[in-house]
Amino acid sequence: MSIARTLKMTAPTHTVLEGGGFPVRRPTAMGRLMSPFLLLDEMGPVHWDPGQAIGAPAHPHRGFETVTYMIQGAMKHEDSAGNKGDLNSGDVQWMTAGRGIIHSELPQDDFLKQGGVSHGFQIWVNLPAKDKMMLPRYQDIQAKDIPKVTSEDGKVWANVIAGSTLGVQAVIDTVIPITYIHMKIQQNGVHQQMIDSGLNGMIYVFGGTVYVDGKPVHDGQLGILNDGDVVKLEARDDDAEFLILAGPELNEPIARYGPFVMNTREEIQQALLDYQNGTLA
Ligand code: FE2
Repeated sequence: MSIARTLKMTAPTHTVLEGGGFPVRRPTAMGRLMSPFLLLDEMGPVHWDPGQAIGAPAHPHRGFETVTYMIQGAMKHEDSAGNKGDLNSGDVQWMTAGRGIIHSELPQDDFLKQGGVSHGFQIWVNLPAKDKMMLPRYQDIQAKDIPKVTSEDGKVWANVIAGSTLGVQAVIDTVIPITYIHMKIQQNGVHQQMIDSGLNGMIYVFGGTVYVDGKPVHDGQLGILNDGDVVKLEARDDDAEFLILAGPELNEPIARYGPFVMNTREEIQQALLDYQNGTLA
């Protein structure tokens, strides 16, 4: 017998300026409720005039992962471990900062020159204490290598970044079990998503309205799910577009200061010291 996941609560988003000043939509409920996710930023959609696009110049990270998924636009990434890559529409960069990395995320030169629409997500995934100081790891996956699947009736489409849906498994390797799926459901379409019981599950809607076990979650809302092992997702009067996110409750103390996320204040002070001394990365 499977147990249906119902909607525990919805959290609204607010718009803030991040990095060099680009607008992001961010759910107001964070922390424990979203574990193991530390942050969920919808970047844009924003239209940049020629010469105006901005990003986040060199900055440090320690103790977690940053996952960037571009839906539209053109960014370039570079880090202190020698990794370098372009992020075009549909590409994912899964960056495990581990013990430390200096990271730069900027618009590509041509995009900056010509302007255009930029839209995507950056999600921070926490690492368990035992993995916080792991060696940095970088997975740069192009859109063509990310599995996509459409349901038999054609009403459900998914881009499988992590985890699995509709019988399709992601290619990205995650440190802890993570589900990260970009899904679209056409009007009157229904999808039953398995999410292992015990994991925290949530739905972030960025187009239309998704009915979660019959309860609406609107554009710009984060729906937090109760426990269970399957969630019924449904579009009714319009098409819906959203992310499905799930992962384990880490149940460890969080000490957070800007781009460092550790377990204790002492570890944060050490990270700051290492950054100042040039030994972070
Ligand atoms: Fe970063």
